[in-house]
Amino acid sequence: MPSFFATALLLSLASAAAVPSKRGSYGSNHGKSKLNIQVGDRPYYLVNDMDEGPLKQKLQKCSEGPFKTTDFVFSHRGAALQFPEHTVEGLTAARRQGAGVMECDVAFTKDKKLVCRHAQCDLHTTTNILNRTDLAAKCTTPFTPASGDTPASAKCCTSDITLADFKSLCGKMDGFNPNATTVEEYMDGTPYFRTDLYSTCGTVMTHDKYIDIVDGWGLQFTPELKTPEVDMPFDGYTQEQYAQDLINAYKNKGIDAKRVWPQSFLPDDIFYWIAKEPKFGKQAVYLDERVDTPEGYANATASLPSLAAKGVKVIAPAFFALTKLDAAGKIIPSEYAIAAKNAGLDIVAWSFDRSGWLNQGGDYYYQYVAKSVNNDGDMYTVLDVLARQVGIKGIFSDWPATVTYYANCFGLGK
Ligand SMILES: *[C@@H]1O[C@H](CO)[C@@H](O)[C@H](O)[C@H]1NC(C)=O
Ligand SMILES: *[C@@H]1O[C@H](CO)[C@@H](O)[C@H](O)[C@H]1NC(C)=O
Ligand SMILES: *[C@@H]1O[C@H](CO)[C@@H](O)[C@H](O)[C@H]1NC(C)=O
Repeated sequence: MPSFFATALLLSLASAAAVPSKRGSYGSNHGKSKLNIQVGDRPYYLVNDMDEGPLKQKLQKCSEGPFKTTDFVFSHRGAALQFPEHTVEGLTAARRQGAGVMECDVAFTKDKKLVCRHAQCDLHTTTNILNRTDLAAKCTTPFTPASGDTPASAKCCTSDITLADFKSLCGKMDGFNPNATTVEEYMDGTPYFRTDLYSTCGTVMTHDKYIDIVDGWGLQFTPELKTPEVDMPFDGYTQEQYAQDLINAYKNKGIDAKRVWPQSFLPDDIFYWIAKEPKFGKQAVYLDERVDTPEGYANATASLPSLAAKGVKVIAPAFFALTKLDAAGKIIPSEYAIAAKNAGLDIVAWSFDRSGWLNQGGDYYYQYVAKSVNNDGDMYTVLDVLARQVGIKGIFSDWPATVTYYANCFGLGK
């Protein structure tokens, strides 16, 4: 190759690398080649709140960084602790906080286009749809005020509206007030530990737009095929086509399968991808909710070797299922965690920083260790067991910075 062309090629590669968000202005770092990761106040607050001991000392020693992006950190719905979930603003915050893997939960519209929403039917709690008289009329169940002992209700699904309708919505903090007698009261239900500070018409995303943004940042993807809440096939749209469309979105844009971690709670979706799209299938993340009952937990634990034999490579339960207490009240890996490791499965856990205060033993996510959890700093004790004893590959977080701080301190991920 003549050296002029070689030089021009090198120059163009160099400039492309220096401008990561070439596809748009989303969270641009203004042509600087290095993104300045910001973990903010929360990790310091939590470390300070920890019980005294070697882990606290180690984390304190990491206070001045450096902090960089790591794929140990999976952004859960963006940065849902403070930003409306599944919005450009939430993803932008997650990127700044160092998340290396970005989530879009995928649902389909009436015209069978893919959009980012945590559930097919959560528009009434995560967007302003009820306050949009033109679109509220299309909801499966319109708003009904609370009356006597009957709570207020509504049900609005992505499949009730078209892609164009969806794009005109504003994202808001997930929540509702069951006592509401007006739409305005119903929409005002953000949990006490979150905030409406950034809830000023969050920018909703199609799945394609999410891919362009995350690709422009050079990060990895974790789209989840949400379980439909309408009968399938939906107007001729089959579950298989829905699973295929999710993968096609990446293939159409030339995204390397190694950057994509498709998730589902439905084993048939996972097996579909393993069979039909093996490059994506070997990265598929089986979300395991069988652990929610004691009998289901035992069955799930026993089934891990056979899942591995069927080609499943990554298992992802809620993180409570990966730990337990020993007789002395110490947090240790659970039977499930040990079985997953023995079966050669990678483990991704969910979801950190989704629980509010831990002063009363925490919530769902801390159910097996509640007796040893009584202050917010205990979050890092649990994360430490997950990371260094269970050996998880990564963890979803509603506030990626808390995990970024820990992961950088221990050199986890890449
Ligand atoms: C709804 O009303 C009940 C009964 O008055 C009350 O206990 C509860 O806290 C209220 N919930 C909200 C979200 O305002
Ligand atoms: C609903 O819409 C009305 C009229 O546009 C506006 O005044 C009100 O603030 C909106 N409420 C919410 C909760 O967005
Ligand atoms: C657990 O497995 C047993 C035996 O296969 C089955 O009968 C039972 O329904 C399963 N329970 C759950 C909750 O999956």
